Amino acid sequence: MTYKICLLPGDGIGPEVIDCAEQVLSALPLDFEFTRADIGFGAYERLGTPLPDSTLEQIRLSSATLLGAVTTPPNLAGYFSPIVRMRQSLDLYANLRPCKSIPHESSKENIDIIIVRENTEGLYSGIERVEDDGNKAITERVITRKGSERIIRKAFDLAKQTNRKSVHVVHKANVLRQTCGLFRTVALEVAKEYPEITMIEMLVDTCAMELVRVPEQFEIIVTTNLFGDILSDEACMFVGGLGVAASGNIGVHTSVFEPVHGSAPPLVGTGKANPIAMFLATALMLDYLHEKESAEQLHNAVQDCISKKESTPDLGGSLTTGQVTKRVIQRINS
Ligand code: NAI
Ligand code: MG
Repeated sequence: MTYKICLLPGDGIGPEVIDCAEQVLSALPLDFEFTRADIGFGAYERLGTPLPDSTLEQIRLSSATLLGAVTTPPNLAGYFSPIVRMRQSLDLYANLRPCKSIPHESSKENIDIIIVRENTEGLYSGIERVEDDGNKAITERVITRKGSERIIRKAFDLAKQTNRKSVHVVHKANVLRQTCGLFRTVALEVAKEYPEITMIEMLVDTCAMELVRVPEQFEIIVTTNLFGDILSDEACMFVGGLGVAASGNIGVHTSVFEPVHGSAPPLVGTGKANPIAMFLATALMLDYLHEKESAEQLHNAVQDCISKKESTPDLGGSLTTGQVTKRVIQRINS
């Protein structure tokens, strides 16, 4: 079987780490057909939009997609976040962010959390307006039963599949009584269908604190869009940071995998961009394609490089982006 993989290089270090991912995939004993499509600020400058329709079409036609990173200029009138728009247009409703200890001194031990973030609604619904001559800005927070139910179900299903015993449902229903109230009500209903898994409710501010205090207590966290965005960036710092944090945007028809980091403009062309976050995103993609063996092979190769300090400077090593890629490929081939 040949997998059609859509590569979205994007901006900054995105194209560098996407090239690394292509090399690593090509070293695996699987057949891939790669296509590239435009996204990001560079696309906007060339084509007048950061997310051309042809890119969405290409993603739809592919078995899975890898995204590098994009640059999002603040305060550019008419500009929109192509990643948020892509997630909404393709209904990539679940953002999965594994946070697992790595064999490195910057990582805490015994952490193995999956953060399951709702990816299409909440405060990122894109409904904003300005009133009072620009002196009042309003963003609407949309929470639906459908959106809540499918993300909560995803979290409980993941708990079941991965033999986890608990799901933390994180909200702020004491203040956001309508939106978080609905999310909470739906969670209590869905949890009844999974008697073997304990649902633990936690307010989002408490969760932010508990994550710092005792991160080992969490197995799965499910929450709304903005809360999940913040908590997952917080959690990744216990397990090596942005250079190794990966995520999957999972939809019903297709899915897009990406490193958590942004376009890191100061690192462009320096060879200091850590490609490992991209490789772990690639391993998540292989897992999604049911290529468990290759996913594990890539995962193990990466872990071995990290533990032997064969890494970029952010993880204390002295190798370049390209050299780390070569070391990972050597391990895959051996
Ligand atoms: P950033 O993630 O690009 O960089 C944050 C810090 O992490 C910097 O110190 C950077 O050098 C370091 N870093 C990032 N990736 C790294 C890697 N692979 N290896 C080693 N170090 C790495 O976030 P920042 O600086 O806030 O944003 C830069 C641009 O990226 C902005 O335009 C922002 O909008 C965009 N962005 C895009 C994201 C995406 O494409 N998913 C996510 C976050 C930001
Ligand atoms: Mg984020």
